[in-house]
Amino acid sequence: MHFFTYLLQCLSLLLLVLSSSISALPRPINHKLHTKKISDTAKNTQNNNNEFKILYYDQTLDHFNYQLESYKTFKQKYVINYEHWGGAKSKSPILVYLGAESSLDNYTLNGLILKNYGQHFKALLLFIEHRFYGESIPFGMSKEKVMKNTRIRGYFNSAQALADYAQLILHVKQKLNAHFSPVIVVGGSYGGMLATWFRLKYPHVALGALASSAPILYFDNIIPPNHGYYSVVTKDFKETSESCFEIIRDSWMMIDKVGQEPNGLSILTEKFNTCDHLNNTGELKDYLEDLFSVVAQYNLPPITSICNAIDNGSHGTDILSRIYAAIVAFSGNLTTCQDINLEKSNFKDTILGWDWQICSEMVMPMVFGTSKDSMFPHETFNLTNYIKECKDIVLETLSDSLIAVYTINGTHTMDILKPEEDDPEWLVHQRKREVEIIDGWLRQYYGNLKQDVN
Ligand SMILES: *[C@@H]1O[C@H](CO)[C@@H](O)[C@H](O)[C@H]1NC(C)=O
Ligand SMILES: *[C@@H]1O[C@H](CO)[C@@H](O)[C@H](O)[C@H]1NC(C)=O
Ligand SMILES: *[C@@H]1O[C@H](CO)[C@@H](O)[C@H](O)[C@H]1NC(C)=O
Ligand SMILES: *[C@@H]1O[C@H](CO)[C@@H](O)[C@H](O)[C@H]1NC(C)=O
Ligand SMILES: *[C@@H]1O[C@H](CO)[C@@H](O)[C@H](O)[C@H]1NC(C)=O
Ligand SMILES: *[C@@H]1O[C@H](CO)[C@@H](O)[C@H](O)[C@H]1NC(C)=O
Repeated sequence: MHFFTYLLQCLSLLLLVLSSSISALPRPINHKLHTKKISDTAKNTQNNNNEFKILYYDQTLDHFNYQLESYKTFKQKYVINYEHWGGAKSKSPILVYLGAESSLDNYTLNGLILKNYGQHFKALLLFIEHRFYGESIPFGMSKEKVMKNTRIRGYFNSAQALADYAQLILHVKQKLNAHFSPVIVVGGSYGGMLATWFRLKYPHVALGALASSAPILYFDNIIPPNHGYYSVVTKDFKETSESCFEIIRDSWMMIDKVGQEPNGLSILTEKFNTCDHLNNTGELKDYLEDLFSVVAQYNLPPITSICNAIDNGSHGTDILSRIYAAIVAFSGNLTTCQDINLEKSNFKDTILGWDWQICSEMVMPMVFGTSKDSMFPHETFNLTNYIKECKDIVLETLSDSLIAVYTINGTHTMDILKPEEDDPEWLVHQRKREVEIIDGWLRQYYGNLKQDVN
């Protein structure tokens, strides 16, 4: 908490919310299930979509250069909700959701807490899609095509995205004559990093930033590696059930062992009832690693239900049957096969874009580590392998100078998701605190404004 106070003092208007000790930032190249689960959750909530007005802005392609091509524009999608706004006359605030590594769709809009905050602050809500995601892809190109175009994808980076946000926010303020409406930017995970950077880089545009789960200051060699994301996931499982923890910890070797037997992959395919035949044990392990992380992060379904399934052994008492029980408990459907291949899912847009971002700009050494207390397979961060994987993914050779932004510790984005009745107390409390802090900023802002006028 000292850290938190210190930050508040240093950057008085920067709010860095340390909501818990789990990071929503993905393990490189592997956060598909995480994205899927968020969408699934949000999908279940109904909403009157008329409240959201969809608009497109002619955004500048390149904010940092004077070449002719820089002045070309592309359509950037943004969404406005006026429902609760007090109006420009009363200088009511504007809450801006900074889109991150996914399209700005109904799932996102319905899944966020911003509507509740809009009510509280009488705020205009502005949601902006991140460039190169969803519909905001330059020149109306397909995502696949644009990612293969080395010239155009050069405009796909966080600095350009921040400049987009600044330009669009000013445009909206201008259009609404809302020159004195204070702006608070909001984002989670990568979006939280953007929100924080935005406040630092464009302090004249944003009064404050609500950065949920933004591990911006967690650099390598600052945080001991075994204090990272996966140790927290492990801790959550261990605290829920010691035997559950042990079974998971021992399952990886078992999967590899069976996988190496003749016909091993067929045995595993059958055992785990996967829709597609397994090509290697990595596919299954990747899925399970994601599953356990997502469960710990969102408690959805609760860890207890996963551990109960493992401990109960209702699908068989050997290790693999217990792990299969966990998958069944997670997917909540016994009748169908388990679709563990998330590559071909609806999240292609996110995967294509995010793989580029983590390979070109945001290299995060989030690995399992080698702690003997971990329930995950042992693994160290290996930049050589990381670069190799990036080259495989991005097809063409990348520049040798990968800029590393290291993150180890972190939090999750629950605090900016739509509140639910069974939210834990800490979360309710945290949201309350966030609202109080923003209220404080606004009070100060309006106070200063009054003084300036007098
Ligand atoms: C939400 O869904 C409605 C109805 O399908 C659609 O018209 C609208 O474009 C969607 N909103 C966004 C932001 O994509
Ligand atoms: C990182 O996480 C660990 C374990 O949760 C914690 O002990 C440590 O204080 C955290 N570091 C910071 C800088 O918050
Ligand atoms: C195995 O590879 C094929 C071909 O790439 C793919 O369609 C299938 O989904 C893979 N299996 C799994 C379980 O991912
Ligand atoms: C555990 O197994 C018992 C008996 O088979 C069953 O009644 C119970 O519902 C199971 N609990 C869970 C959480 O699966
Ligand atoms: C389970 O799968 C069946 C068949 O695909 C589907 O009709 C049903 O809605 C699913 N149930 C749940 C709870 O997802
Ligand atoms: C990283 O991986 C490469 C290739 O797999 C290997 O040669 C190298 O020794 C590894 N480096 C470390 C530090 O483990």
